[in-house]
Amino acid sequence: MVFLGIFLLVALIFMVTSISGAPWVPARSFDIEKLLDDVKLKKGDVFYELGCGDGRLVKAAAARGAQAIGYELNPFLWVVAWLRCLGQPNTTVMLGDLWKADLSKADVVMAFLVPRTMPKLDRKAATELKPSALLVSYIFPIVSKKTAHTSSGSWHVYRYAKKS
Ligand SMILES: C[S@@+](CC[C@H](N)C(=O)[O-])C[C@H]1O[C@@H](n2cnc3c(N)ncnc32)[C@H](O)[C@@H]1O
Repeated sequence: MVFLGIFLLVALIFMVTSISGAPWVPARSFDIEKLLDDVKLKKGDVFYELGCGDGRLVKAAAARGAQAIGYELNPFLWVVAWLRCLGQPNTTVMLGDLWKADLSKADVVMAFLVPRTMPKLDRKAATELKPSALLVSYIFPIVSKKTAHTSSGSWHVYRYAKKS
């Protein structure tokens, strides 16, 4: 009975995070450094990962000297990400809803969500990002928006010229 209860709780948490943003599917490891190269992430940049999963990208961004902030709603994944980033300076792993993250100070924002959330991500970026900031959407494009540059991999890079 206890095991069934635990199983149902875990299933519920994964279901809620899947509905709220995306299910957990990790970005390909070999893409991580390439993606950070592509957006020219540099020391002192403020990097956000919306739905940071197991925290690999947050840690990799901080290792380049960025101030790296990850948001993760799934408490199990949050623990994994938090443990991964333990001891890595300039990392913050927030247990919270990515839709509530304040992106106004971000230089680079990365999100790996699903197509149905792209319009909401687009609106959030348009409202909150400063003109010099970049939004990176892994795998899924924002179909209504032109990319800032052609990326060399499975991600799409956007810039929001002015706040709306
Ligand atoms: C497709 S996975 C990507 C994981 C990670 N970014 C990577 O590339 O390896 C999407 C992640 O977003 C998380 N997520 C979904 N909805 C969320 C929400 N509302 N707030 C924060 N995280 C959320 C999921 O738990 C999952 O870890």
